Amino acid sequence: MKENLLFYNAYQNFYKMADESEVFKTYCKRAFGEDFSQDGFSDLNQLNMILSMVDIDNKANVLDVGCGNGKMLEYIHSKTGARIYGFDYSENAISSARKRMGDRGSFKVAVIGEAEYDDNKFDLITSMDTMYFAPDMIAFVSSVYKWLKLNGSFICGYQEGDIMKKTKDCNTTELAKALRENDLKYKVIDYTKETYDMLRHKRKVIKSMKEDFINAGLLMWYRVIKGQTNSVKVSYEKYKKKNARYIYKVIKENF
Ligand SMILES: C[S@@+](CC[C@H](N)C(=O)[O-])C[C@H]1O[C@@H](n2cnc3c(N)ncnc32)[C@H](O)[C@@H]1O
Repeated sequence: MKENLLFYNAYQNFYKMADESEVFKTYCKRAFGEDFSQDGFSDLNQLNMILSMVDIDNKANVLDVGCGNGKMLEYIHSKTGARIYGFDYSENAISSARKRMGDRGSFKVAVIGEAEYDDNKFDLITSMDTMYFAPDMIAFVSSVYKWLKLNGSFICGYQEGDIMKKTKDCNTTELAKALRENDLKYKVIDYTKETYDMLRHKRKVIKSMKEDFINAGLLMWYRVIKGQTNSVKVSYEKYKKKNARYIYKVIKENF
């Protein structure tokens, strides 16, 4: 039963609110530079950096794993013209993506570990703050690699200190272990400081919008979002002992 999957009901509620609330859209734009209905740690700077790491044009196929309501894909499409694909287990998220994007994208409701795509199909696969939900990360990494075209890239935004516990460094995370189990080489950008700064900014923005959230009947969401920034009440030196953000990149070198 999907209802038993971690956070399923919470994400259904989140994407319904994200679709309906102008206050939340304004908050996203101010906190992250663009409204991608973020629940993770990706702002506009991070997404632009990721796009600068790959060569994607209007002939490319791009898949986003855990795409939510598809707004990051919509942005990628607007910048590159790429054909976009996304899946997420939240029906509310996917119906919102389909409503906005129509036949400019291909979105499906699917659970990580059960979603299927053709082998050798994608030039770029992104997964922002979603790998944590794979019931078997080693097996899921293997699927993602199969879905990539030769020379295609898998780029993953991965946070420690939130769902996943902080480990020693970028080579000791569950994702790094899963990549090594699949014999995959990876490069990593340490994005911890940028994420600390982004969260400090997000905290300022959400606090400044308290009245707006209350007037819109969204006090509960105000508390959730503000709570997501409690980790940055301390100095960066303290923050980075318990938190880290890494951007992993894998290029498909063989079939
Ligand atoms: C932390 S959010 C990140 C969303 C988006 N990628 C972002 O960066 O803002 C995790 C996303 O994964 C989806 N998700 C969680 N568990 C999932 C699962 N088992 N199968 C498919 N999607 C899942 C949620 O609905 C949500 O959209």
